[in-house]
Formats: sequence, structure tokens, C-alpha cells
Amino acid sequence: MKKNIETILIHGGIPVEEKTGAVNVPIYQTSTYKQDELGKHRGYEYSRTGNPTREALEKLIADLEGGIAGFAFASGLAAVTTVLSLFKSGDKILIPTNVYGGTYRLLSRVFSNFNINFGVEDLSDVSKLEEKITPDVKAILLESPTNPLLEVNDIKAVSDIAKKHGLLTIVDNTFLTPYIQRPLELGADIVIHSATKYLGGHCDLIAGLVVVNSEELKEKIAFLQNSIGAILEPFDSFLLIRGIKTLGVRMDRIVENAEYAVDFLLKNDGVKNVYYPNLKNTKNYEINKKQAKNGGGMISFGLKDGYDINKFFKSLKLIHLAESLGGVESLVCHPSSMTHAAMPEDLRQKVGITDGLIRLSVGIEHKEDIVKDLEQAISEAKNVL
Ligand SMILES: Cc1ncc(COP(=O)(O)O)c(C=O)c1O
Repeated sequence: MKKNIETILIHGGIPVEEKTGAVNVPIYQTSTYKQDELGKHRGYEYSRTGNPTREALEKLIADLEGGIAGFAFASGLAAVTTVLSLFKSGDKILIPTNVYGGTYRLLSRVFSNFNINFGVEDLSDVSKLEEKITPDVKAILLESPTNPLLEVNDIKAVSDIAKKHGLLTIVDNTFLTPYIQRPLELGADIVIHSATKYLGGHCDLIAGLVVVNSEELKEKIAFLQNSIGAILEPFDSFLLIRGIKTLGVRMDRIVENAEYAVDFLLKNDGVKNVYYPNLKNTKNYEINKKQAKNGGGMISFGLKDGYDINKFFKSLKLIHLAESLGGVESLVCHPSSMTHAAMPEDLRQKVGITDGLIRLSVGIEHKEDIVKDLEQAISEAKNVL
């Protein structure tokens, strides 16, 4: 029976423990497993290589993304690191003009030391993509929508071109989650998540996930996961499974709240610009409509000249100023000094991650309370001359 995603969230992966019938996967808090004789074990040898709690999570995310295998890591960046380890010296990866600052830092300050190069390109214009594919380009790493400017990249169009040139398409699906967008169904080869965000959903763990759609990639990532060893612990795997069960209901509320907040921001006198994937009459809207159920829960915006941004942050009473996103609580951050501080200033300015940009992760509080808090903080931020 083909199941809807709301059902897979609850019953996907390994939903019941065989031995006892427990409806929650137990936390197998063990590093090793007794072997019956030389060369004969019961499917598990050592928990870096395989652990039943982690395996339940890995099967669950594979089911949710529609892939053939999932892998769980100690953080989103551990997941990105493991995927980037597929490449070798001389290879080049194309990334969009705004990606999560940590991914940029990893490429520019770690992988570049191993001569694995990257090119920052405007991937929103697919008609110009082929010109950028030089022989050393081996993959395109997309975020859609991007962090923090919420630019939408056409996953299917990019994947089609990548396939034609024998490149891998890797999509960081952190911002929308498989509940809203499933990149493998659009032609991508690998999906990455910072599961710290919406999948965990409660700002209480750090985790990363990867899903692949071919046996070849499954084998390669399994080898790298075991070789690099940046795996997710059993307890955190359990917490993440628990978080994922409520993803659908959380996302429904988050998106309803985000759309309400976008309406408010668009009408507010102090707001200069609003970035959201589903703003009608924009190119983003048309592409997003084709590939995602809705615009998700992230909004970025700027205040007009004459507004003091730090006063805005200090005046918030409900919404926390904090790194991260995707929790049940609304969070704001200042990308240029926080999440994207690792990007060189000239690149930040060029792509629009200005010092006036505010990123809002909308939570599940009452939508009117969220908007009231934004309204009073914007009003406090207005400089009285
Ligand atoms: C889009 C995106 N990808 C990856 C990461 C890295 O994940 P983590 O912080 O879990 O290492 C983040 C973190 O903010 C992110 O926003």
C-alpha cells in the first residue's frame, strides 16, 4: 500500500521492535556486539559501522525522501563533510550564490586544502548553467530555498543538466524537509539535512542526515560514514525519530504562521524588503510551486533606513535572538554577523547578505503573538530624531 507522507512520518523506517513489540525503537546504547564465533555475528559488529537505533532512523529518512538508503551523522556539517569526501583532488563543485555559511567555510577553508575546489554561481538562471560546467566540475550542490535569501533554485532543471554532463546533484533540503519538498523525486542524487533544524524540531540536538538513490552511492556513503566516523549516537537517533513523528503537524502550523507573518511584514511601514519563496508574482514563486508544497517557515527581511537593527533584536520579548532554526520556538538571527560570518564581506555584500538583513524562523506559537512581538520590536527600533 502506497502511504502518504503523514503516515510514513509515524510508520516509516522500522516502526515496531520485533522482539517485544515496543512501538518505539529502543535506544541500543552499546558500542559493540557479542559475536557467536569467528566471522559469525548477528548483523552488528561495532556501533560506528551499524547500530539498530541509528538504523531505524536511517530507514525512516530514506522512506521519507523516497531514497534507497539513509545515513545519520553527528551534525549537518558532518553529513556535508562525508558527502564532499566523495570527491578527489582537482574536482570542482558548483554552489549557489548564497548557501549556509558553514558549508561555504568547509569548502573554502577545509576542502580547498585538498584541492577540491568550488565555484559560486548564480544557479537561479538555468539557461546559463551549461556555460559554467568545465571538465573539472563533478557536482552541483544546491540549497532551495537558499540560506538566508530564500532564493529558489529549479531542482529538476538543474538535475537534468547535471545528468547530461555526468555530474551529481546534491540538494541540502534542510529548509523545506521531505514533508514539503522531495529532491530525489525531482532528479537529485543525494539529499542532505541539518536534522538539527525542522526534523529534530525542538532545538535539543545536533544531527545530520543523508539520503541517496542508487546502490553505487549507497555503498560509497556507507564506506565513508564508517571510515570518517562522524556518526549519530543512539540516544540522539532516538530523539530524532521522536521529533520526526510530529514533523507534519509542526510544519502545517509553522507554514500557516509564516504566511501570516509575511503578510504583516509586507504591509509594515518600517520594513524595506521581504524574502519568502512563495511571494506571488516572483520568479521564485513560479519555480517553488512546481517543486514544493509551500514556502516553508523561513522569512528574511530588512528594516528601512532610520531603524536600529540591534534595537529591534533587543526589543523582542517572545522571539529569541539565536543561531539555528526550525524549532517549535520562533528564532531570529542576523546572518551577516552570525550564520554567515564565515563568508568574506565582499561576497556577502555582492549577494545581498547585508548588515541590515534579519532572518526569522517562525515557530508554532500563536501567529498573532508572533506578529505582535515583531510589530512592537520594529516600532521600538525606529530612531527618534
Ligand atoms: C542549510 C543548512 N545546511 C547545513 C547546516 C549545518 O548543520 P549543523 O549545524 O547541524 O551542522 C545548517 C546549519 O545551520 C544549515 O542551515
